[in-house]
Amino acid sequence: MSTPKQIALGLSMRYLGYHAAAWRHPTADPDAASQFRHYKYIAQTAEAAKLDMVFLADGIGLRTKDEPPGALQRSHQTLELEPLTLLSALSAVTEHIGLVATASTTYNEPFHIARKWASLDHLSGGRAGWNIVTSWSEAEAKNFNRDKHMEYDLRYERAAEFVEVVKGLWDSWEPDAPVFDKATGIFFDQSKLHALDHVGKHFKVKGPLTIKRTPQGRPLLVQAGAAEQGLEIAAASADVVYAAPLDLASGQAYYANLKGRLEKHGRTRDSLKIMPGVTLFIGRTGRGAGAV
Ligand SMILES: Cc1cc2nc3c(=O)[nH]c(=O)nc-3n(C[C@H](O)[C@H](O)[C@H](O)COP(=O)(O)O)c2cc1C
Repeated sequence: MSTPKQIALGLSMRYLGYHAAAWRHPTADPDAASQFRHYKYIAQTAEAAKLDMVFLADGIGLRTKDEPPGALQRSHQTLELEPLTLLSALSAVTEHIGLVATASTTYNEPFHIARKWASLDHLSGGRAGWNIVTSWSEAEAKNFNRDKHMEYDLRYERAAEFVEVVKGLWDSWEPDAPVFDKATGIFFDQSKLHALDHVGKHFKVKGPLTIKRTPQGRPLLVQAGAAEQGLEIAAASADVVYAAPLDLASGQAYYANLKGRLEKHGRTRDSLKIMPGVTLFIGRTGRGAGAV
């Protein structure tokens, strides 16, 4: 008997939520986005509700502009915690739920990402995921020695190579490489350790990673590409795509486009899940929820 298909659900839990005025709700603690107990409550509630993952979007700079002047000081989307640090802490107070954090391929090195996410996969018992982004704002460029953001094509070329290097580093250790043989003194089987020796246009990375094969084999890869280069990275490597279609027809076209690209990468249509984003407005009545 075939197992019934189940919908996969994630919760994007950045800031105090995505409503601009969320911090002013009478019951809201405006400082919650800097408090661990806030995220702990959300992650544990999502886990109890059987959701598959919590997700942290990220930007590595203050992207909100002061437009019109005076608007910035009213925005709660100015304070947050660093996603991977936060998910590491959450891994200790949850047991089953997936933990997905965003990190930029433009302002990181592949070795750092491979190492940190492999660590989270071990710490969480196989629940880590990396949301691959290239970043998009000038504000971020200015935090990383640049005046301008890297040009689109170059950014995506770098991203594609970045992901291949990270995957290669995650393959450093074959699953049965560690033998821990106290009698012979052999800690690991050296024939099962592989240096990457990558030399490409953007990266030169020897490897190997100093973290053994992770519980999931490798952390899950998540992507949110909409244009050509992003779709290709997703088709080549992503397990999950976070999509933002605005209506059914564009959602269906996106689905067909992306799923149609998998075969040429030697992948089955089921090997990638598309998870569209939904923003919920909750009220006692439709009018109360703003549906007028
Ligand atoms: C649903 C969704 C979520 C995204 N989340 C992030 C994010 O957290 N951080 C970020 O820097 N970019 C994020 N992006 C931007 C994408 O990574 C990408 O840079 C952008 O969509 C432009 O690429 P594209 O031309 O392939 O769409 C997101 C995009 C989408 C559609």
